[in-house]
Amino acid sequence: MFSDREVKVSDTIETILKETRVFPPPEGFSKAAWQGDSASYQKLWSSSQEDPIGFWQTAAENIHWFQKWQKVLQWDEPFSKWFVGARTNAAYNCLDRHLEKHGDKTALLFEGEDGKVDTWTYRRLHSEVCRLSNVIEKDLKLKAGDTATIYLPLMPEAIVAMLACARVGVVHSVIFAGFAAHAIRDRVLDAESKVIFTTDIGYRRGQILELKQTVDAAVTETPCVKSVVVLRRRDTTKLGPKDLDWKDLLSRQTPEHTAQPFDAEQPLFYLYTSGTTGKPKGIVHTTGGYLVGTATTAKWVFDLKPDDIYWCTADIGWITGHSYVVYGLLANAATCLIYEGNLMYPDAGRIWEIIDKHKATILYTAPTAIRSFMRAGDAVPAKYSLKSLRLLGTVGEPINPEAWMWYHTQIGKGRCPIVDTWWQTETGAILISALPGVTSLKPGSATRPFPGIKADIVDEKGNSCGPNEGGYLVIRHPWPSMLRTIHKDPNRFKETYWNKFKGLYFTGDGAHKDQDGYFWIKGRVDDVINVSGHRLGTMEIESALVSHPSVAEAAVVGRPDELKGQSIVAFVTPRDGSDLKDLQKKLKDHVVQEIGSIARPDEIKFTKTLPKTRSGKIMRRLLKDLAAGKEITGDTTTLENPGLVEFIQ
Ligand code: WTA
Repeated sequence: MFSDREVKVSDTIETILKETRVFPPPEGFSKAAWQGDSASYQKLWSSSQEDPIGFWQTAAENIHWFQKWQKVLQWDEPFSKWFVGARTNAAYNCLDRHLEKHGDKTALLFEGEDGKVDTWTYRRLHSEVCRLSNVIEKDLKLKAGDTATIYLPLMPEAIVAMLACARVGVVHSVIFAGFAAHAIRDRVLDAESKVIFTTDIGYRRGQILELKQTVDAAVTETPCVKSVVVLRRRDTTKLGPKDLDWKDLLSRQTPEHTAQPFDAEQPLFYLYTSGTTGKPKGIVHTTGGYLVGTATTAKWVFDLKPDDIYWCTADIGWITGHSYVVYGLLANAATCLIYEGNLMYPDAGRIWEIIDKHKATILYTAPTAIRSFMRAGDAVPAKYSLKSLRLLGTVGEPINPEAWMWYHTQIGKGRCPIVDTWWQTETGAILISALPGVTSLKPGSATRPFPGIKADIVDEKGNSCGPNEGGYLVIRHPWPSMLRTIHKDPNRFKETYWNKFKGLYFTGDGAHKDQDGYFWIKGRVDDVINVSGHRLGTMEIESALVSHPSVAEAAVVGRPDELKGQSIVAFVTPRDGSDLKDLQKKLKDHVVQEIGSIARPDEIKFTKTLPKTRSGKIMRRLLKDLAAGKEITGDTTTLENPGLVEFIQ
């Protein structure tokens, strides 16, 4: 049942500028919060702006180091090293150091789509990670610095695999288990992974996903992969020549393993994300700074307390899953709920049912999901108590004030603060967010930078913008969890993030700051689109389209979408003589085949030619306007053919 409520994704800029509602932190919340006293927090924040290095140095005291640093930051613009000379181990920080006090505490509370629950204590998680670490070292013979790919759905073993790699210094590259074989192949080859950890099947919307089949198809083209470790969930699954049985390998290893200290700058993982060219980029995160950034932000932004049951609905295939399901949370000895399945299956109340069942206290999800719940009608969450919730969070895309208000009233019942957290795969950790005990909230604003983060809005020349003046979001000072480079492509790293403004990290987002210093993020200003909180490169989809024999040329743009934030519209010039019958469907399927279903175009329009500038560049601005049904405005004088784009019926 859909309510007739109008769900708008992005209230117009005018509405946002007129947004005047302010929600101060509830008194009871502030009293108990880690950061709950506004005056002392303001002091801490101001001094962190003066001395970010000092702030992060203090924050680093909450991490276990086998050896302390000689220097906090070494900055050879744009390359940074944090906690130089220090030695640490990410898995030790997430597991071993908690065992004495929290060995019997639940680390992971796993619920399958079928409703079955499996509880993993810190001790159990530690034992499994140790066994797999032994497998990696003794059976698979990987060494620190080697790479392994993880292609697993959101299940405890995926986290076991990540932590086991981290424990032995193997760099993990997690690939979202919705990506298709070609996308896996490209990422595995770029990372030069020697091993893939996977499972035979996954479960989603009552269907079985044949994950191993996808990996099998990818592996035929990845000679670097020596073994595939398969977690068999179905007895009948057959293993091929490169395959090894996960359970069998683990059963032959002991649950004892000593974590070795690694350099703070040891790469912890590569995570592939979309950029403005066809090729996804392997974002490199290292160990020490990443742990400091994620652990500190997780504790303060989510105000984590020992009894919290924290639920982040993101998959481990994305940065949110890395930082705020795994590392930041386990480093704080938190209890994390994880769920393998669709949040609205078998009905729209599933998410609320899970919250009541496990008495979740913190919920962290994406605006797109909130808009879908909102669309299902207020009657759905009204059937549940939701009493256990004390804090709500959002991430991944701008949240429109209307969805914010719905989340606040219908889910938070007016009592739970909302942390709207702005960050990126590249930033590793949250950079702009409210701290729930001290920040007054404004619906639609990510509020203020985290302590130690010097965020700003600048104009085209790199000068700071005034209040309410739109510009580019930049970061003025390095921070510990920042990406170190793009794997194998330091030039692209420089060009993408550091060349637009001298000495400033360019985020790719447009934003403005209001008179109170609150940040309002508008979205990407480059050729990256954000579909349901998933980041996609338009060029990546274009490359997939032109690899089809019937396509001569393609241009992909985002169109504002009330539910998904943006939807994907492709303008395609078919090759002469192509049969147009069913071609739209065929091309959509082709993109799914090449990248995965998250990249399926919502609409394909056939055109005789694509509008280009005289220098041969596709006029995306014009196509964006066309896709959005807007009148063509602005300067089209540089257009080669200033006439209309001619559609083929
Ligand atoms: C967008 C996800 C507005 C932004 C953690 C950014 C947001 C991109 C917010 C990064 C937010 C993320 N408000 N926009 N709270 N959070 N974004 O790498 O455009 O998947 O650049 O990281 O998502 O997406 P990514």
